[in-house]
Amino acid sequence: MKILLVTAHPRSQSLTHAVAKVFADAATSKGHEIEAANLMAEGFDPVLREPDEPDWSNSNKRYSVAVLREMARIERNEATVMVFPVWWWSMPALLKGWIDRVWNNGWAYGDKTYPHKRAWMLAVAGTSPEAYAKRGYDGAMRTGLDTGILDYCGIAETRLELLFGAIEGAPYPEEILAKARQLGSEF
Ligand SMILES: Cc1cc2nc3c(=O)[nH]c(=O)nc-3n(C[C@H](O)[C@H](O)[C@H](O)COP(=O)(O)O)c2cc1C
Repeated sequence: MKILLVTAHPRSQSLTHAVAKVFADAATSKGHEIEAANLMAEGFDPVLREPDEPDWSNSNKRYSVAVLREMARIERNEATVMVFPVWWWSMPALLKGWIDRVWNNGWAYGDKTYPHKRAWMLAVAGTSPEAYAKRGYDGAMRTGLDTGILDYCGIAETRLELLFGAIEGAPYPEEILAKARQLGSEF
């Protein structure tokens, strides 16, 4: 499968980028092809301005050139995997803005559904599973991201994988990378 691997992190040496690389290497060794979309390195502008605002009375609205280019990049692939750090119990604004602008009315929802049958989110979480469970952050993220975005856009094979404990020290980072490798192998 051709996978668009979308990352949103400011530091190339981050655990998030290491997760993306390990996932990509494992998926490639299973015969998948990876196209990298490093939104930070590319300088993607996440702010939704008027040209990309949905027109609820016109599902054929022509969006900005930048958005049409992103749509074409998605369309030449067959699956999407987004790898990002959890920031404020959600995704970085950079990735949120990519979705705001590109996963637009009449293309990802409305008259159409997102072009891919499979889309996964791998979220590198700073704290432990217990910290998430204590306040229900994991459930809230599943509702907002998996149900609210992936399901909403008609994607059949969705997955939100929370990779816990990134800043908790050993053994978490190694476990996170092992999980990313496993996910790449089973994609
Ligand atoms: C702005 C900001 C907000 C964050 N919010 C959360 C959060 O809500 N929950 C959490 O578990 N970790 C949070 N963290 C910690 C990150 O998830 C953590 O730094 C990251 O997963 C570590 O991996 P990295 O090396 O790829 O950055 C936050 C970090 C930043 C910079």
